[in-house]
Amino acid sequence: MKFNYLIVLVFIISCNNNSAGNKTTNTENSVAVANTNGETLFKANCASCHKPNERYVGPALQGVVNRWENKELLYAFVRNSQEVISRNAYAKKLYDEYKQSPMLPYPNLKDQDIDDILRYCQNYIAE
Ligand code: HEC
Repeated sequence: MKFNYLIVLVFIISCNNNSAGNKTTNTENSVAVANTNGETLFKANCASCHKPNERYVGPALQGVVNRWENKELLYAFVRNSQEVISRNAYAKKLYDEYKQSPMLPYPNLKDQDIDDILRYCQNYIAE
């Protein structure tokens, strides 16, 4: 497993290097940047119900951005899922599927916090 992890890491790093000449400051996809904010927030608030890469009480959070029609809705859902469920078909469908346990509201999380949490999940590699 450690070996696989290394291969993936080397692959990601070489991909980053291949987009050469392009000295990007965009940290969105960079594995080299520590994301302690995302990790801390995820573990403190979300890990009781979510795993990055598999279904748990709620859905796996990897790839979640692509499942929503826009990020504003996704942010709004994390801050107050009930409000979004009342007006959005995808959220309603999700809620019906997982209705045993509605998600708690997180009104204090900023867009950046949610991005950090989701980026942590996206870059998480199972051991
Ligand atoms: C009490 C359990 C619980 C906690 C804690 C929780 N969630 Fe959820 N989450 C769910 C459930 C269940 C769903 C499925 C939708 C529903 O039932 O409302 C969900 C759905 C989601 C979705 C949409 C998933 C998709 O496939 O589109 C996102 C994004 C999300 N949660 C993010 C978070 C974040 C970020 C945190 C921490 C800040 C968090 N959740 C904390 C239970 C939880």
